[in-house]
Amino acid sequence: MVNKKNWIKQIAFLIFMLSVSCTHTQQNEIHTGIHSNTNPERTLIVYLSRTNNTKVVAQIIQKNIGGTLVALELENHYPEDYQATVEQVSNENETGYLPPLKTKIDSIQKYDVVFIGFPTWGMQLPPPMKSFLNEYDLSGKKIIPFNTNAGYGIGSSFQTVKELCPNSNVLEGYSTKGGIERDGILFVMEGDKEIQVQAEVIKWLQKINLIK
Ligand SMILES: Cc1cc2nc3c(=O)[nH]c(=O)nc-3n(C[C@H](O)[C@H](O)[C@H](O)COP(=O)(O)O)c2cc1C
Repeated sequence: MVNKKNWIKQIAFLIFMLSVSCTHTQQNEIHTGIHSNTNPERTLIVYLSRTNNTKVVAQIIQKNIGGTLVALELENHYPEDYQATVEQVSNENETGYLPPLKTKIDSIQKYDVVFIGFPTWGMQLPPPMKSFLNEYDLSGKKIIPFNTNAGYGIGSSFQTVKELCPNSNVLEGYSTKGGIERDGILFVMEGDKEIQVQAEVIKWLQKINLIK
């Protein structure tokens, strides 16, 4: 009888220990987050962002994958005024002008995965991002575009990325609706929208096989 009681106690203890260890594993997984398939030291995330929507997407990518985050800055700022900016961008697109960048990337050759983030401007890739892709040789690297826009989509921007990186492996990009500066809606990447984008970015990174 005593032996049977001990035996039951031992089984109960084993079940308890097993359940504790399972919970522990689960917590570790949540804590560790998603496992990246890339080397953070060889991953660069470059983004252009005027009103910070694309910046938040860039930060979400970095949170999941690691890597160096770089904001593209210009020698000469665009105007504060939205309409004046639209006109300047339109002229730059027409003439093919590439605005000089203040940002300099230290030894681009050390990166083999380069995320490039930008808003849609005039249904195109913004001129500063054209400057970046023109200035740096990204041959042989994985290039991954991401974008925010006012709801009209990516326009020709992803296609232009492919054209400006003819010797790179350009992977499927990610795009989401951001601000509508024309209507005075500048920043939207907070609350439910940020949570939605976080979930979408994780799914996208899994789909393109950069995280497990
Ligand atoms: C000069 C300019 C042109 C824009 N052109 C477009 C456009 O053609 N289509 C669109 O959907 N949104 C357009 N937008 C809106 C931005 O793409 C959108 O607000 C984006 O989320 C801004 O990103 P950011 O906050 O990272 O700067 C334009 C914004 C600016 C400033």
